[in-house]
Amino acid sequence: MIKACVIGWPISHSRSPLIHGYWLKQNGIDGSYVRQPVEPSELDAFIANLASAGLAGCNVTIPHKEAVFDLVTRADESTERLGAVNTVYLREGKLLGTNTDGEGFLNNLRSAAPRLALANGRAVVLGAGGASLAVVNTLLEQGASEVAVANRTREKAEQLRRRFGKRVMAIDWARAGDHLGECSLLANTTSLGMKGQPELAIDLSRLPGTAIVTDIVYTPLRTKLLSDAAARGNLVVEGLGMLLHQAVRGFALWFGVTPQVTGELHDLVARDIDPDFKP
Ligand code: ATR
Repeated sequence: MIKACVIGWPISHSRSPLIHGYWLKQNGIDGSYVRQPVEPSELDAFIANLASAGLAGCNVTIPHKEAVFDLVTRADESTERLGAVNTVYLREGKLLGTNTDGEGFLNNLRSAAPRLALANGRAVVLGAGGASLAVVNTLLEQGASEVAVANRTREKAEQLRRRFGKRVMAIDWARAGDHLGECSLLANTTSLGMKGQPELAIDLSRLPGTAIVTDIVYTPLRTKLLSDAAARGNLVVEGLGMLLHQAVRGFALWFGVTPQVTGELHDLVARDIDPDFKP
């Protein structure tokens, strides 16, 4: 039996076991994937003992992504740029770490909005935390000509510009709406709009009708930002798809099969988030 898990602190709300459990069953694989609470003080030992505990690898979530980056061999350039790891796996006795958040974001957009062209386009990103880093990195890798980042703490947006260069522009949090004029993508990476958090307030009136709007928040499945954007005719892409798509590569690395993000999987997780969800 092949074993994997997701580590975090706390971890009780993670939906990753539901996703990987679905794929294990769908592919007839003798494997397991569980939630594993790991306190920060236990993290080094947990990672060091991964192989001897019989694990093929693990997902890493809050608050461990940056710490695990320093504990493993970085598998690729993109992860090196991010300074955060969300997927750990073993190869030839070596502990490797990679980050699949960016491809989760991108493949979610691609599957929901196949006509979106990111190359040479302008994007506005709200937020400059860990999730923003992966999103901005991906948009730049896809050839965006400009990524305007608005963050409550402006200095963190400036840091992103220093990290990624001149295609990133720091803009004023309170004036983010003023920058929507020529943008083809608006992405919220802050926690605003999440259940229990304040709403995100942004003036969408300048946003072109052709722009796509996405949110990494998926509780609720459709945030107010997305319903406001949909009401004015913009194509919107919900955040749950990012969670599903970021899980694909980890599953393939541990269990040896590239799984499918199906409508059935989407609906299964959507119902877990919102019992009233109707496809
Ligand atoms: P994550 O890894 O999910 O990105 P994070 O690194 O803590 O988490 O980042 C959270 C993001 O949400 C940040 O951009 C944060 O803004 P600050 O950098 O100013 O803290 C943003 N955020 C959280 N609460 C917010 C609020 N009430 N108003 C505006 N932005 C908020």
